[in-house]
Amino acid sequence: MADMGYRVLGRTGLTVSEVGFGAWAIGGTWGPVAESDATAAIRAALDRGVTFFDTADVYGDGRSECLIAAALRESPGTPVVVATKAGRRLDPHLAEGYSAANLERFVDRSLSNLGVEAMDLLQLHCPPTEVYYRPEVFEALDGLVGAGKIRHYGVSVEKVEEALKAIEYPGVETVQIIFNIFRQRPAGLFFAEAQRRGVGVIVRVPLASGLLTGKMTPETAFAPDDHRSFNRDGSAFDVGETFAGVDFETGLSAVEELRSLVPVGMTMAQFALRWILMFGAVSTVIPGAKDAAQAAANAAASNLPPLDEPTMAAVSDLYSRLIAPQVRHRW
Ligand SMILES: NC(=O)c1ccc[n+]([C@@H]2O[C@H](COP(=O)([O-])OP(=O)(O)OC[C@H]3O[C@@H](n4cnc5c(N)ncnc54)[C@H](OP(=O)(O)O)[C@@H]3O)[C@@H](O)[C@H]2O)c1
Repeated sequence: MADMGYRVLGRTGLTVSEVGFGAWAIGGTWGPVAESDATAAIRAALDRGVTFFDTADVYGDGRSECLIAAALRESPGTPVVVATKAGRRLDPHLAEGYSAANLERFVDRSLSNLGVEAMDLLQLHCPPTEVYYRPEVFEALDGLVGAGKIRHYGVSVEKVEEALKAIEYPGVETVQIIFNIFRQRPAGLFFAEAQRRGVGVIVRVPLASGLLTGKMTPETAFAPDDHRSFNRDGSAFDVGETFAGVDFETGLSAVEELRSLVPVGMTMAQFALRWILMFGAVSTVIPGAKDAAQAAANAAASNLPPLDEPTMAAVSDLYSRLIAPQVRHRW
């Protein structure tokens, strides 16, 4: 545990590991992941002091929630915070669906999957923008807090503007957002406002879906049921969730340039995570991991030295030149 850093998750007051665990890939939509590998990944994260797990009711239709619950049952008493999400079971996925009755139904199902009577943190799962302009949705969440089913709630957003609107609701204690070397805009106004309001910031897609590990080439192939095969054009969900919305070839060229900036003693994946941890507004970063080795390597990023100023400036310059034109005005 000693090698992991911990931060406070905004006004929730919860202390969480600064490197958490993103549990989408162990649910589904990322090609096959054996249950044994998924469980070993969770175990490896726990062993290295990870205390924040992010999942959702739709990841593998509940598989991800159930795998986390099963692993935690093996480690009773571990002070872990599990965040799940609701909303994406709606089909069609429309703002009108975010009713008090539907939200309660989704929460009840997640409580059952997680095997708990109250969940630590519920996040709206990238709802349509219109939802942020419907105070009744947030009143419904307040109702679920009052009923003792959720302890805290927040939102997972696609766009900076959605985040800024969401945190105007006093009950919104956390925002989950994409922030990485290829997606730097949240570090501006949003981070300042989140800090000012004491909102916890959960950083997702930190490795740009694996691109920022430096292991991919133009020949890298993905399984047909991996979103990196079927969502490159955004035909299944927001294209920003796949490679952070960066065109694969552009991303690969930028990664080539990044190589020279990675300090000795770090992998590129750890460098990408370390870069995110340089920002004080970040409460926790949640890389996905499909096996124990990935989970352990990601957790170890917490204990690596901070990046120096010239390196931070060089990353900023690379983003401005190569990546920003594709993403800056979209999210
Ligand atoms: N709408 C939402 O709210 C939303 C959307 C997206 C993500 N999330 C959350 O954010 C989490 C993180 O984002 P993400 O999983 O989309 O993307 P990510 O963390 O950027 O990338 C994860 C993928 O990178 C590869 N990888 C991870 N660690 C590695 C390592 N050390 N070495 C080599 N490869 C490594 C693995 O895939 P391969 O080995 O197959 O390359 C892994 O599945 C998710 O798990 C989920 O909890 C939420």
